[in-house]
Amino acid sequence: MTKYGFIGTGNMAKAMIQGLLKSGVQATDILVSSPRSASKLADTWGVLALSPQALIDESNVVVLAFLPNQLTRITNELHFDQQLIISVLAGISLSELQEATHSTEIVRTLPNVNVAINQGLIAFASGQLMAPNAQLFGQFTEKLGESTDLSEDQFTIFSAIAGSGPAFVFKYIKALSQAGINNGLSEEVATNIATKTVLGSAMMLASSDATAQELEDKVASPGGSTRAGLDDLDAENFDDAVKHAIKATMQHKHL
Ligand SMILES: NC(=O)c1ccc[n+]([C@@H]2O[C@H](COP(=O)([O-])OP(=O)(O)OC[C@H]3O[C@@H](n4cnc5c(N)ncnc54)[C@H](OP(=O)(O)O)[C@@H]3O)[C@@H](O)[C@H]2O)c1
Repeated sequence: MTKYGFIGTGNMAKAMIQGLLKSGVQATDILVSSPRSASKLADTWGVLALSPQALIDESNVVVLAFLPNQLTRITNELHFDQQLIISVLAGISLSELQEATHSTEIVRTLPNVNVAINQGLIAFASGQLMAPNAQLFGQFTEKLGESTDLSEDQFTIFSAIAGSGPAFVFKYIKALSQAGINNGLSEEVATNIATKTVLGSAMMLASSDATAQELEDKVASPGGSTRAGLDDLDAENFDDAVKHAIKATMQHKHL
């Protein structure tokens, strides 16, 4: 049985672990290591807490999920054999990862939080992996959602759209929902309507051959109320506001 080890058990590791558990991986096949929260996670989720080296020795897949600036301090004391290593460390290049781990069986990834419900998007870049590890990586990402092979210079834009994007979508849902509340709906009803509208529209686009623009035009008949709303969004420079937000996200430096 494949054993999945996580070094670092913060927000991203927890999201991935939730996704693995939901996909049917047994809690006892998930190993965790971190100075403070790993043992709590073992108590609550039934995963196993180990020292980092014991975790590496026991795992087929080791996920590096601590903060990017901790890389060399943590890996200096560790020895990797030929396990598959998956890094989620934002801003750390494949060559930096290979140097720090003394391994080429490593994949640089950037997952988004939707991995927690098996609907994640995972960008990845790797060198030539051994065949069993390439297979393991495919199985790992399939459990969590969808993966996309990108060049490393595309990670920043991927991060802005897919990594930060969920927050932008939540903000949009909140604004839609608030408009409902302002017009007499209860918070619960308004939030449900806004959430399901975004969810259904995204599913409609994902399952259609039409472009987003074509579907937009289908909903908005000329001279109709939706067209009036879209014209207002254009007048308020909605597209520019989104582009500016993406630019600000891309220009922000990682700590
Ligand atoms: N959050 C996201 O949406 C997201 C998206 C893409 C990529 N990432 C990447 O994911 C990584 C983790 O981010 P996060 O948001 O999950 O951060 P976080 O919630 O702050 O978690 C950091 C984790 O690192 C652990 N840690 C600290 N020192 C350690 C050590 N010496 N050995 C092992 N673990 C140690 C902490 O352990 P304790 O809990 O025991 O203190 C904590 O569990 C980062 O590299 C980030 O770039 C995050």
